[in-house]
Amino acid sequence: MAYTFEESRKRFAIAQKTIPGGVNSGIRLMEKPVPLYFTHGKGSRIWDVDDNEYIDYQIGQGAILYGHAPDGMVEALCQQAAKGIHWAAQCDLELEVSQRLCRMVPSVKKVRFNNCATEAVAAAFRLARSYTGRSKILKFEGHYHGWLDEGLVGFAPSPDEWGPDDAPTNLHPSRGVIQEVLDRFVVARWNDPGHLRVRIEPFAGQIAAIIFEPVVCNTSCLEPVKGMMQAITELCRKHGIIMIADETITGFRFGTGGAQSALGIDPDLTIFGKAVGGGTPFAALAGKSHAFEPIAQGNTIHAGTLNANPLCLAASNWCLQYLESLGDKHPNEINNLGKTLMAGLSDLAHQWDIPLVPQGPGLTFHTTIFKSGQRETTPIRDYRDYIQRHDAPRWAHLRRCLLEEGVRAIERGLWFLSLAHTADDIQETLDRSKTAFRRHAETWSA
Ligand SMILES: Cc1ncc(COP(=O)(O)O)c(C=O)c1O
Repeated sequence: MAYTFEESRKRFAIAQKTIPGGVNSGIRLMEKPVPLYFTHGKGSRIWDVDDNEYIDYQIGQGAILYGHAPDGMVEALCQQAAKGIHWAAQCDLELEVSQRLCRMVPSVKKVRFNNCATEAVAAAFRLARSYTGRSKILKFEGHYHGWLDEGLVGFAPSPDEWGPDDAPTNLHPSRGVIQEVLDRFVVARWNDPGHLRVRIEPFAGQIAAIIFEPVVCNTSCLEPVKGMMQAITELCRKHGIIMIADETITGFRFGTGGAQSALGIDPDLTIFGKAVGGGTPFAALAGKSHAFEPIAQGNTIHAGTLNANPLCLAASNWCLQYLESLGDKHPNEINNLGKTLMAGLSDLAHQWDIPLVPQGPGLTFHTTIFKSGQRETTPIRDYRDYIQRHDAPRWAHLRRCLLEEGVRAIERGLWFLSLAHTADDIQETLDRSKTAFRRHAETWSA
């Protein structure tokens, strides 16, 4: 019997009276048929106000790599809360967490803490500008770097506005943005090293930083093609550009050294968010000593009342300690579980003649449903390719069928495995998905 969502619907209607739009982050409106209200979560499961139980692959938009309410973290948080939540001052925990990060990630020699990755990105841009004396940032179409004016330039333009292939537009999806900010950005397409080399040439001496998601998780799940990371590294070194890896999602999900260790890259600055705080409002700007010189010298401001508060530090310390204790098991175990899930979903798609192909390493992956007439044999390569080939309305329909059977994927098509998911969870997910795929096949019409 498919789930219903009456209690969530009631609350969402009431919310309109006091919360503009009814949610506190715009993306939550993507959840259909209604943004859900949850009561509690444990491990891989989460329960809503209608008493529906979900096997959760949204997992706090990736932040809860450790599953919902892991016992050890709950204990660490309670112990710290009893001692103090916020001091706006120093404590031993910040030494411990910064030292752990330096030990775990080879490129990291210095760390500053923030409350979210959006802030850490803003700090990275300021630092890069201060260090190089230049004003422009190069970023890639389809890569997300937080919701502020600077982070969203060129993120997801519509096809009628995205400009020529060799010069993507630097539009912003929001109104109310400082227009001059857009002029400070050069936007390039992802996964085309030849294009990047040509795109950067006229601006090379003006570019302070290149920022990128090493594995793009905000548009499909795009692993870098051969030569992409080498091109970024080479251009940064050649032109004195600060290389910023935005590992908000990939950091720690891809292993203790982040995606940068897996890909063999050596960024000047790295953004860590989500899993570094395990669901608490916590992020880190980390990197090489030279890149932090402007802050160390005191001429470049980085601040925040709640930065490095002991409650978030206690959570982060638990998370990092836990990851270190897993050794080689992480990320191998979640990668293998994810691969099993991808294979099972592919089988179901085949059985019901749904043109769905999972793409990604396993620990995270995206389920693309190809538009009719589009080829399914080559992976999605970049943002334009994604928009042209992925059938977003059809995925939204299948995603709703999955939700109604208690399988919660991310609204935009991504799936995150957590360290709390087990082989039994994967089997149960596939059992529940059988009904969802059948219902989708029987009821979907373009
Ligand atoms: C790659 C990336 N960078 C930055 C951010 C912004 O993180 P936050 O929402 O914690 O500010 C996100 C959020 O999803 C992200 O995926």
